[in-house]
Amino acid sequence: MLFLVFFVGLFSSPTGTVADSYVAGVFEHRVILNPDPRVPVTRYEALQHMTKNLDVYEEQAALAAQQGVDILVFPEDGIHGFNFTRSSISGYLETIPDPQRETWNPCTEPGRHNNTEVLQRLSCIARRNKLYVVANMPDLQPCPLPSDPSSSCPPDGRWQFNTNVVFSSEGQLVARYHKQNLYFEDSFDTPPQPEIITFDTPFGGKFGLMICFDILFRDPTVTLVERGVRQLIFPTAWMNALPLLDSIQFQRAFSLGANVTLLAANTRNDRLIMTGSGIFTPFSATYHHAQEGDSEEGKLLVARVPVLEEMPGLAAEVQSPSVMATDHCTKESCSDRSPDPTSSSFISYMMHDPFTFVLLNKMGGNLKVCSGTFCCVLQYKWTAQGKELYALGAFSGLHTVNGRYSLQVCAVVRCANEDASSCGQEVAEAESKMDFVLEGWFDTKYVYPSVLVSRMVLEQPEYLEKTEDGRVLMKHANMGGGLITACLYGRTYQLDNERTVL
Ligand SMILES: *[C@@H]1O[C@H](CO)[C@@H](O)[C@H](O)[C@H]1NC(C)=O
Ligand SMILES: *[C@@H]1O[C@H](CO)[C@@H](O)[C@H](O)[C@H]1NC(C)=O
Ligand SMILES: *[C@@H]1O[C@H](CO)[C@@H](O)[C@H](O)[C@H]1NC(C)=O
Repeated sequence: MLFLVFFVGLFSSPTGTVADSYVAGVFEHRVILNPDPRVPVTRYEALQHMTKNLDVYEEQAALAAQQGVDILVFPEDGIHGFNFTRSSISGYLETIPDPQRETWNPCTEPGRHNNTEVLQRLSCIARRNKLYVVANMPDLQPCPLPSDPSSSCPPDGRWQFNTNVVFSSEGQLVARYHKQNLYFEDSFDTPPQPEIITFDTPFGGKFGLMICFDILFRDPTVTLVERGVRQLIFPTAWMNALPLLDSIQFQRAFSLGANVTLLAANTRNDRLIMTGSGIFTPFSATYHHAQEGDSEEGKLLVARVPVLEEMPGLAAEVQSPSVMATDHCTKESCSDRSPDPTSSSFISYMMHDPFTFVLLNKMGGNLKVCSGTFCCVLQYKWTAQGKELYALGAFSGLHTVNGRYSLQVCAVVRCANEDASSCGQEVAEAESKMDFVLEGWFDTKYVYPSVLVSRMVLEQPEYLEKTEDGRVLMKHANMGGGLITACLYGRTYQLDNERTVL
């Protein structure tokens, strides 16, 4: 009797069915591209092309099933490719029924909707392998959308969306999500309202959907988290951008900062610098990032991860400071003991933003740097020292190149060479290591932390702390590799729509 009670307590949640862990799979796919995406093709030709990618999906789903995968995620654009125009993508479009309005299993009921070969194939892949499948494909919807009270419509009379679809292990279409934050995608429309889409699973509870550039914005990403969704699915076609926005670096940072699990599947394309996928929980990371010279091929990642219970109001809560042995400082005490921030600081552009930097010295110590009233402080002690130059940078302002988003960032970076003007440029290898405490005082509670070391290896920060005054502290010691970037990446979403004030 006692044993039974224990058993139930261990393997089921209060709602009764969810286990305490599940097996996630993500597939980094080297998408087979249409060599001429701007030239329209017939439906038949589009299907011939997409079948090549779907054949790879079929193989990978079988391999994933052998490893006990419960849910398998494929990347953005993984079936059709990219760089279509609004009209040249026509042959690739299917009209995806809204699973909130209709229950449909395309594999067992293929005749219900015409022109749905891709949906049918994906549904059968899920059903045959008995796993949930998340894939990305283009959706065509007639105007007006039933869900849109404004009845708005693009000039050519149709909606075209970059779309995630989810199939249950029976093959039923259970979720459809239209990408909110497009990144130079001429063929697609932004939905008239942000879609906050989740689905429930028997093995892992609730999951939320987003796509690529969405991860940098409030909707749908932060809205999902604030509604208590702890497991997010992230198909992407991410062009890597060191030193702050490499794929796995930001995937790790987001998962830690939001305290969620992120199932991230990137496409692989060396010419477009796309690689980096992973299964990230707040406690662990299983990831892949191709190195220069690796053969250009797909990669399946599988990991057993804990079910994260829904936690309403999670991101809104601030941790109270815990007792800790560092002699971290307050805003006031730091300004007392740190050098005058203006004396040795200089401006250098990092990721197109004018960061204020100060150089680290050979001795170690304390440094402070400010961008306006936003300040960052570093305490550091070298544990291995190469000939490399490092700098502490701060930036507070609106990023406006390739997207508008407001930032507050503290970052320790390895400069590209021994010249201070190279600080902020891209580097992927380093030898120097340090123990450090990095702190910033943010005007936002949305701060995403990461430590990236040589050759695209992520380290789990040893200690993180957030306090109510906006202070965020990251402490790390015993680095395994040379430091590329240690970063607290703050997003001041509330300022995204304000005009730049200089
Ligand atoms: C797609 O467009 C990007 C820029 O938007 C360009 O760099 C790239 O070469 C194009 N890719 C293909 C496959 O045509
Ligand atoms: C599918 O297309 C065929 C041929 O155009 C048509 O006869 C049929 O009614 C269509 N079925 C549905 C469900 O729209
Ligand atoms: C993060 O999530 C874990 C697991 O759900 C939980 O134990 C922990 O308290 C959360 N941390 C914060 C800061 O909310």
